[in-house]
Amino acid sequence: MYSLGTLVLALAVLAVTFADDAKPPPAQILSDKSNVNANGYNFEFNTSDGVSRQEEGELISVGEHKGIGIKGSYSYTGPDGQQYQVTFTADDKGYRPELRVIAPGSQPQQ
Ligand SMILES: *[C@@H]1O[C@H](CO)[C@@H](O)[C@H](O)[C@H]1NC(C)=O
Repeated sequence: MYSLGTLVLALAVLAVTFADDAKPPPAQILSDKSNVNANGYNFEFNTSDGVSRQEEGELISVGEHKGIGIKGSYSYTGPDGQQYQVTFTADDKGYRPELRVIAPGSQPQQ
């Protein structure tokens, strides 16, 4: 099960990862939306250095256990100039990422 502490830690690790990616020059945030409610949350943002990320989490029950099921994706430009996209699900069955290369000129899927 995923506790709120685990989620906060995961977000902090991601924040550090993006902070390192952002220098130099500092990336600008182009769009940033988030929403939290009783059943879950979602957010999305993108930045001027080619990073975009979106995620949604909702309360799930497995048997008597409750936790947060998360779906999301992020994309970024690799050191090789290619745009990569990782789509992931994290729930009671574990963290399951899928990586794909986005062909230049096509839009990343949300
Ligand atoms: C950033 O997100 C906004 C809103 O979703 C979108 O209109 C814009 O095209 C995105 N910019 C980039 C560079 O992905």
